[in-house]
Amino acid sequence: MRIGLAGAGRIGARHAAALCALPEVDSLAIADADAARARDLAARLPSRGRALDTVGELFTAELDGLVVAAATDAHADLVGRAIAARIPVFCEKPLASDLDGTFQTVAAAASTGVPVQVGFQRRFDAGNAAAREALASGRLGWLHTVRSCSFDPSPPPAAYVPSSGGLFRDCVIHDLDLIRFVTGREVVRVMASGANRGDDFFREYGDIDTGSALLVLDDGTLGVVSATRYNAAGYDARLELFGSKDSVVTGLDAKTPATPLPERDAEPRPAYSGFMERFSDAYDAELQAFVDVAAGRRANPCPPEEALEAFYLAEACELSMRQGRIVGTEEVRR
Ligand SMILES: NC(=O)c1ccc[n+]([C@@H]2O[C@H](COP(=O)([O-])OP(=O)(O)OC[C@H]3O[C@@H](n4cnc5c(N)ncnc54)[C@H](O)[C@@H]3O)[C@@H](O)[C@H]2O)c1
Repeated sequence: MRIGLAGAGRIGARHAAALCALPEVDSLAIADADAARARDLAARLPSRGRALDTVGELFTAELDGLVVAAATDAHADLVGRAIAARIPVFCEKPLASDLDGTFQTVAAAASTGVPVQVGFQRRFDAGNAAAREALASGRLGWLHTVRSCSFDPSPPPAAYVPSSGGLFRDCVIHDLDLIRFVTGREVVRVMASGANRGDDFFREYGDIDTGSALLVLDDGTLGVVSATRYNAAGYDARLELFGSKDSVVTGLDAKTPATPLPERDAEPRPAYSGFMERFSDAYDAELQAFVDVAAGRRANPCPPEEALEAFYLAEACELSMRQGRIVGTEEVRR
């Protein structure tokens, strides 16, 4: 298959390596708004990777699939152009940086039938899939509480922040999608808050570095989502399901960056260095799924309508934080 990649930054480089390792991928055409980045990445890849001079060439290269890993504010345009060229697309989360872009992309995909798979890789994490099954089996009873966290060890480069959409749309959106995916329930109300205690550039760009939200699900389950850019102990992405009969947690293992007290072992503990390490298998699995979707071999595991639902929740969190009040998710739906 001929696959294209738009965006040769942090996650683009990781996806490029994974795509080149797939037997189905014969060639990978890489483009970036900064052409030197595409060239540098292609030079580090096996011979199947080659750089294009311009992003526009992606849409005339007769691709079988396009992976969009560009900055968030470029997603809607790139996905829209791929849909117009009838190229199946994998797009990193979030599908767009605002609700209008998300809505337009969902509509374009629906009206053309071109597959658009969104990069919520946590759905492909073995622990999260097992948690979903455990809940569906009835083994946990009814859920009283679900908690999900996304704690980055260190902040992204300052230049990443203005095009990211902000902490709720950029980061907490993973937790929001995961809670919907695992519980199969919808969120009806949120109450969110944020804090700025780290580098000044978050505040200067109108963003926060730490945020949390209390969620009320449509069956009465309470949820808590939390994210920060400053968890120096390591990368921590845990999902906890507390049920009337039993509880399960994912992401809790020898590399979870939290020290149980009282401390029994003074040896330094290895911790997850970042999302790349924690979700390595999940990233590989979602890209394998994408080439299968693009080849028409499997159903889309994360269609744009799902990304829209998660985006509504991120919007509701943002509004709740800005206005300091409980927001019903119907307020932000269209
Ligand atoms: N699923 C995940 O866990 C995960 C993790 C990290 C990033 N992401 C998402 O991936 C995207 C990229 O994040 P990153 O950390 O790699 O950012 P990055 O800043 O490292 O890289 C972004 C790249 O996109 C390029 N770019 C900007 N506009 C472009 C355009 N119109 N066409 C082509 N290239 C363009 C930039 O030049 C840059 O090289 C973001 O949307 C982010 O939300 C997802």
